[in-house]
Amino acid sequence: MAHRNFLHAYDMSATELKRVLALAQAPIAQLGRPLDGKGVALIFEKPSNRTRHSMEMAVVQLGGHPVYTRGEEVGMDVRESVEDITNVMSGYHAILCARVFDHGVLHRMAAVSSVPIVNMLSDFAHPLQAVADVLTMQQNFGDLAGKTVTYVGDFNNVARSLCEASAMLGMHIRLGCPEGYDAHDNELLGLTELGAASVEQYRDIAIAVSGAHAVHTDTWTSMGQESESAEREATFAGFEVTTEMMALAETNAIFMHCLPAHRGQEVASSVIDGPQSRVYPQAHNRMHAARGVLAFLMGEQK
Ligand code: CP
Ligand code: NVA
Repeated sequence: MAHRNFLHAYDMSATELKRVLALAQAPIAQLGRPLDGKGVALIFEKPSNRTRHSMEMAVVQLGGHPVYTRGEEVGMDVRESVEDITNVMSGYHAILCARVFDHGVLHRMAAVSSVPIVNMLSDFAHPLQAVADVLTMQQNFGDLAGKTVTYVGDFNNVARSLCEASAMLGMHIRLGCPEGYDAHDNELLGLTELGAASVEQYRDIAIAVSGAHAVHTDTWTSMGQESESAEREATFAGFEVTTEMMALAETNAIFMHCLPAHRGQEVASSVIDGPQSRVYPQAHNRMHAARGVLAFLMGEQK
């Protein structure tokens, strides 16, 4: 049976992403319980609040049964190979979802699976977060074509997927990242090819944020990078999103963060807890985005 995977935001076309955003906002009753009587595996090698809860609830809302499993419980490449785990689980479940340290594991799963593989965050990408991010921006600004999104900080998994989804919807993309933690030229070019209205990268976050409609940031130290945290805190000092920074953005600009957040590091409390912050609706949109993605993938099964 042919199936689609969702390892990167660009695994969907722009038209398909718009379809997912429409499914995410459709009344649940209209989605027709595409997971009725079916299982969805949720394998986590790393901790989670939003992704686990939003995915479990999205599966239930589509009529299915989520099975949460810790990575060490199945023992990916320890108790048995990723390929054996995937082959076995794809006989039980309609969709296999995994949060992994190594993005390559997702490709290995996709290579042998007979059902869709969904990336619930890897070291490289976080596409489910990106769908919630563009949904949140769309709810605030309507059509996103020609609007400006700025990402400040580490060009990490969250930034990469956010930029890809934003590019696919025709946004202007601005990055404010320190040297060594920035997007490479080929990634910037890739965003243009995906449809970005423009792509610019700056070291000065004041320039990056000027005139932005949405300002995003994320932790300076992602899961798996804990041994680098002191070095990263030194490098990223000066990359905090402050009230002064937000004042340079559009008058009605919004602040976004995938969470978990570190107040006083990547964002000031006055911003994340202030009137421009949309971090809680953004987090709640994870469930609607997940429902849209899962409904889309079930509809694509041939
Ligand atoms: N934003 C996000 O993915 O949060 P969790 O790590 O809590 O799932
Ligand atoms: N970049 C962060 C996102 C957490 C949701 C990490 O990978 O830890």
